[in-house]
Amino acid sequence: MITLPHHCEFLSDAWIDEATGYLRRELSRQGEGLTGQPFRISGRFVNAPPHLKQPGDVAQWTATWDGETLASTRDFTTQADLVAEGDYQASLILAQTVGALAPGVMTGAVHELRHLHGADAFRVSSRVTAPVVRDLIGTLHDHMARRTVENPDLAHRARRLGLLERIREIEANGYTVIERAISPEFADTLRAATLRALLPHNTFQLQWMLYHGTEFERIVQNPLLMTLIDASLGRGAVIASLSAIRRGPGKGLIPIHTDHSLVPEPFPEWAVTGVGVWAMEDWTAASGPTWIVPGSHRLRRDPRPGEGLDKGIPIEMPKGSVVYFTHGTWHWQGDRAEPGERVTLHSHFNRGILRGLEPKKVDVQMLHRNAPRLGEMLGEDDWFDKLTAEGRDHLRARYMAQLHRFTDKRKHALLTGSD
Ligand SMILES: [Fe+2]
Repeated sequence: MITLPHHCEFLSDAWIDEATGYLRRELSRQGEGLTGQPFRISGRFVNAPPHLKQPGDVAQWTATWDGETLASTRDFTTQADLVAEGDYQASLILAQTVGALAPGVMTGAVHELRHLHGADAFRVSSRVTAPVVRDLIGTLHDHMARRTVENPDLAHRARRLGLLERIREIEANGYTVIERAISPEFADTLRAATLRALLPHNTFQLQWMLYHGTEFERIVQNPLLMTLIDASLGRGAVIASLSAIRRGPGKGLIPIHTDHSLVPEPFPEWAVTGVGVWAMEDWTAASGPTWIVPGSHRLRRDPRPGEGLDKGIPIEMPKGSVVYFTHGTWHWQGDRAEPGERVTLHSHFNRGILRGLEPKKVDVQMLHRNAPRLGEMLGEDDWFDKLTAEGRDHLRARYMAQLHRFTDKRKHALLTGSD
């Protein structure tokens, strides 16, 4: 296991120990209300990452409260009061969603899961009726979600999420597109939330979108885009900026450029920065999409005046898709021939050794309502900028070094087919 001591991997031994400890504490604390109120919860998740070393790569767990004592085992039973089953990687997004008792939160997360993976990727049945039991299971879920990390096995994760070819495209062309990475319904929600934040005087662009609502906390942690970012920028990549752009008809307003700010030429062979642009309407050549020069990352420099425009292609993709470009790939904002407005969110990340364009404001409530993934991109999990009277944060330094090594190893295995 590669985690910080206050985090754990979904259904690892450490995860089960933490969940069992939480239940024991709460059952002891709330004893009177739950005495004589037995319940059993059980889960079974297939295609778990091999490093968890579960038989047949099936990770399962059952907790039984008989009204007086709690038993926690690696068994699974469909006879439990709450039964959850699914694909491990697909279901991980639910295991990382905080807000089990908040209206609409889990429903929204399940909707996105099924949009990507289908109805059978996760199933849950419950016959829990006692409010005290329902509330305990809900708070257990949240307690674990805010500790549950992303699957650190990049190769396993990329294959389960269907992203192998996308990662190959990034290496070959400097960019890729994930079509319909979010549901059209979530794209509509995001568009409305973006327009809510973009007041009339913000006629073009607004930064710091992370701090404008929980919709933005969800999109910035999107597991598909984050897998591409992990593959190109490494783990511990930090938010450079989360910005919104809205634009109406007319000529494109951003000329051809790379996203390298003050990076000397020749650019490094490895990616230092990457941007995912979320489309909240269908993108066509007429709607003013991003244009990209495929393979321009291999030149390792900015375009010279007048260069590249004849080699660009428009990124056409349906609503809810994301285009991700990195490595200093040349791109620009196209002309819009259609009426109406194009609204986009730009999820810009830097390799963890670099600063961002926006100051990071670590809000303890924001961290509390999210999985550790959000803290990672705000610099909470590495040792940069951290020092105590005892000296450097060696715990985080060791953790991030291990995570980088494992990620590099698994990326190599993925791209060579030896995983
Ligand atoms: Fe750009």
